[in-house]
Amino acid sequence: MFRRASSYSRTLQKVRMSTTQAHRQITTTPLEQLQDFGEHHVTGGLARLTKGIMTKGEGSHVYFQDGRKMLDFTCGIGVTNLGHCHPKVSKAAAEQCLRLNHAQCSIAFHEPYLRLIERLLPAMPDESLDSFFFWNSGSEAVEAALKMARILTGKQNIICMQGAYHGRTFGALGVTKSKTIYGEGVAPLMPGTFPMPFPYWHQHNLPPSTSSSVLTAHSLYQLHLLLAQQTAPSETCAIIVEPVLGEGGYIPAPKEFLQGLREVCDKHNMLLIVDEVQCGFGRTGSWFFVEESGVRPDILIMAKGLANGFPLSGVVSRRELTNKLKPGSMVNHIFFSRHLCYPYRVLSHRAGLTQGT
Ligand SMILES: Cc1ncc(COP(=O)(O)O)c(C=O)c1O
Repeated sequence: MFRRASSYSRTLQKVRMSTTQAHRQITTTPLEQLQDFGEHHVTGGLARLTKGIMTKGEGSHVYFQDGRKMLDFTCGIGVTNLGHCHPKVSKAAAEQCLRLNHAQCSIAFHEPYLRLIERLLPAMPDESLDSFFFWNSGSEAVEAALKMARILTGKQNIICMQGAYHGRTFGALGVTKSKTIYGEGVAPLMPGTFPMPFPYWHQHNLPPSTSSSVLTAHSLYQLHLLLAQQTAPSETCAIIVEPVLGEGGYIPAPKEFLQGLREVCDKHNMLLIVDEVQCGFGRTGSWFFVEESGVRPDILIMAKGLANGFPLSGVVSRRELTNKLKPGSMVNHIFFSRHLCYPYRVLSHRAGLTQGT
């Protein structure tokens, strides 16, 4: 039964409507006030080094709305390896954008995904790495690698490095040990993570002049203790390592250290996960730093330089291992998974890799 609204409720309704309508108005903030607008409306959880609004990127420089031109030493923290807005990358992305934006990867293959793999295969640090999976961000690729390690070994615990940075999603954060701020207030983090010291003099409280062989021996001894005292090999699925420790100090791992990790993994049926999200794609002089040690990763994680600024990450492993994953198991559980196959990202990377070779 309908009742006639009272004049008060009609007024209230009008007030509500006008408030709602005001809220829905799109206002265009003048450029000079956009900084303040950003301070107000962008989450406090993001940090910024400087004030200003970047309007353009070209090569090694970024330009600001107030006319400043700055040399971008951050390079997107290891992202824009070919420089900002590389013409070939941007052109390839634009062309793909006009062709097919979203090819749902659980429906069928699409060409750029496969062409990217063709390009990446010769760049792999070991020829055994031949089975790929692409995602959006480095953290998501780390999540995938952690899940794979658990599924493929049937074991749960994971050893990571003191000082490591692997991202800020929950699993990745569980193996990130570079700063407490990332985990403050969000505990409990993913359980079953065991940090060991990286061969970095600072972590061992040794003089900076300590040789890499001594540092390696110290670290591997601690790994030995960890496996004897805290996480049994029968319960440990993997060791995850940045071969160049990033945020924890920018320290390249000595070759003997990576070889030592490989030996321990082989001995105990554990997987060696190498995270080259930051140091991969030519930043150390080879496609991937790990190849300089001759060490074969079981799982290699890549992102950042892979697409020179477009959001693309990847996990590569051996077909023999990835064949054990149930079809569909790697797609369904990640928030952005529906979008993981944006072909333009893939194609843009293709241009990037072509340029790099
Ligand atoms: C080594 C490493 N792994 C993972 C990540 C996380 O990548 P993303 O920020 O794309 O999630 C980063 C990011 O800096 C990184 O340096």
